[in-house]
Amino acid sequence: MCETIKMSTIGFIGAGITGTALATRLDQQGYNITAVSSRTLASAEKLAERMKHCQVYTTSQEVADNADIIFITTPDDVIGEIAARIRWHKGQCIVHCSGAHSTDIIEPAKEFGADTGCFHPLQTFASIQQAIENLPGSTFAIEAQEPLLSILKGMSRAIGGYWVILKAEDKVLYHTAAVFACNYLVTLTKLATDLWQDFGISQEQAIKALLPLLRGTLSNIENIGLPNCLTGPIARGDLGTVKKHIEALEKENPHLLNTYKQLGLQTLPIALAKGKINPGKTQELQDILSKQKQGALI
Ligand SMILES: NC(=O)c1ccc[n+]([C@@H]2O[C@H](COP(=O)([O-])OP(=O)(O)OC[C@H]3O[C@@H](n4cnc5c(N)ncnc54)[C@H](OP(=O)(O)O)[C@@H]3O)[C@@H](O)[C@H]2O)c1
Repeated sequence: MCETIKMSTIGFIGAGITGTALATRLDQQGYNITAVSSRTLASAEKLAERMKHCQVYTTSQEVADNADIIFITTPDDVIGEIAARIRWHKGQCIVHCSGAHSTDIIEPAKEFGADTGCFHPLQTFASIQQAIENLPGSTFAIEAQEPLLSILKGMSRAIGGYWVILKAEDKVLYHTAAVFACNYLVTLTKLATDLWQDFGISQEQAIKALLPLLRGTLSNIENIGLPNCLTGPIARGDLGTVKKHIEALEKENPHLLNTYKQLGLQTLPIALAKGKINPGKTQELQDILSKQKQGALI
């Protein structure tokens, strides 16, 4: 960390999961976290207790008056109104951690001569402790101009993470990708456990059984990579098995049929790229997965 940044004071507005985890990791790396406020005093106090020298303030304006770099780590929906309400100072850096929004939502800070940036940890945080543990190794999507860009790159490195630079117009697609990889993985796991309940096994038992499969899949993605990590009937070109899945869903879980077929169609190019099925087999699978049942509404 360069000396100038070491001397900079850092404030947090919003002492929830992301704010507390980020402040904790930065504090551990020698950054100077000096000011915090939150909607409730209790959250701000809890964050401050983890820091070496951090003052709790009752208003966000006081945080803005007492720090050089200010992170707004509130829910996305209030970041804009907080940024618009505060009287910022020339030369300050204002940063939010939303994945979906660009720096546009904190644009009012620029009118005071402040620099603005986004610093989005590409991670899923369900609790403060888990967030502190998972921050190292995570990638941070940064949107900022120099000199703030270098400051944020330095922070991601200090935390033990990586960074990618995004333009404002990239943010929505970037966040959509995160929803596919994170949130919809949860949805797919839930759908799988629902099917297990159909043959009489509880969600708890199903999760226990499916977790090693999920971990194995993640390990294959990490160690073998796309497209070779793909296994299963589509990767093998097992037409008969895919047909049986479709028939079973038509009979017992018709509400899942469209999802199964759509995901199957998206899996075909991966299987083709893996090279175990040829274009002819791919076409046959595509026909089965695209075929609508007579009278079906989907
Ligand atoms: N959770 C994730 O997985 C994740 C991952 C990456 C990025 N992020 C981003 O991080 C940011 C914070 O999300 P989070 O999950 O950390 O939310 P969170 O745990 O709900 O924390 C938000 C905090 O903001 C405070 N707050 C709410 N309204 C406020 C206001 N008007 N003024 C001041 N403080 C206010 C709340 O304070 P009190 O506790 O005092 O009520 C709460 O502790 C969001 O931009 C989110 O997109 C989240």
